Amino acid sequence: MSSRTAVVTGASSGIGAATARRLAEAGYHVALAARRVDRLDALAKELTAAGRSASVHAVDVTDRAAVDAFAASLDALPPLHVLVDNAGGALGTDPVATADPAEWRAMYEVNVLGVLNVTQALLPALTASGDGTVVVISSTAGLATYEGGGGYVAAKHGAHVIAETLRLELNGTPVRVIEIAPGMVKTDEFSLTRFHGDTERAEAVYAGVAEPLTAEDVADTVTWAVTRPSHVNVDLLVLRPRAQASNSKVHRER
Ligand SMILES: NC(=O)c1ccc[n+]([C@@H]2O[C@H](COP(=O)([O-])OP(=O)(O)OC[C@H]3O[C@@H](n4cnc5c(N)ncnc54)[C@H](OP(=O)(O)O)[C@@H]3O)[C@@H](O)[C@H]2O)c1
Repeated sequence: MSSRTAVVTGASSGIGAATARRLAEAGYHVALAARRVDRLDALAKELTAAGRSASVHAVDVTDRAAVDAFAASLDALPPLHVLVDNAGGALGTDPVATADPAEWRAMYEVNVLGVLNVTQALLPALTASGDGTVVVISSTAGLATYEGGGGYVAAKHGAHVIAETLRLELNGTPVRVIEIAPGMVKTDEFSLTRFHGDTERAEAVYAGVAEPLTAEDVADTVTWAVTRPSHVNVDLLVLRPRAQASNSKVHRER
């Protein structure tokens, strides 16, 4: 039985699922949180079959009551040492002039208030562990903007500010705050969700890019950062594929 728990939100796909696999390999009990329980069940089954330790938690991170109930349920698990705030995503690429305010609100809800809800609810347990780590998966969209990105960029700037502020506020406590800001990562669902299921538009995001980052690349980076000695804080780590020099400068081979 693992002696430490790591919570991963958005563990039902992409970066979250890959991170849960890597943290389980590193010896953590992984508490898998997301809305789609069938996918979490499949991942938990895969992990336990491989001799790892995992549990499944149906949580909508925008629902504070559900998040609080989730936090209470963690008492039955090994002490909580790691929280990976990964649940999030983008909706649309409309310019500011015509963007849908409902999409902006939804992105703020999940990428900012979702991180706030889960972090607030789990902070007492992370502090009580005597050695806690919060990882915020923001984005290069949290650091600079691009045309058509306004709503997502605004929300990810919010996530970035949570990480920066929390690090200041937790100074002197046994909890460190790590922000991982990926650029272009080719995951199965991120762009599909952004373009409301339009596979052609989703695929076009990665067209001609030799090697976008993979979910595993990000998971590897998260796991590296989390497994540094406790006194070492990786404040902010930006990772992009070699083919991407900025949010808008991407080398395409065709
Ligand atoms: N892919 C990229 O290029 C990229 C780059 C930089 C940063 N990121 C960030 O990395 C994170 C993961 O992205 P990804 O590429 O792995 O995307 P993804 O495959 O679409 O994963 C998003 C995850 O978030 C979960 N989620 C969404 N809304 C939720 C809610 N209200 N409550 C709980 N869980 C929720 C989803 O699970 P359910 O639907 O089952 O709830 C899913 O597991 C996101 O924060 C994203 O913004 C992605």
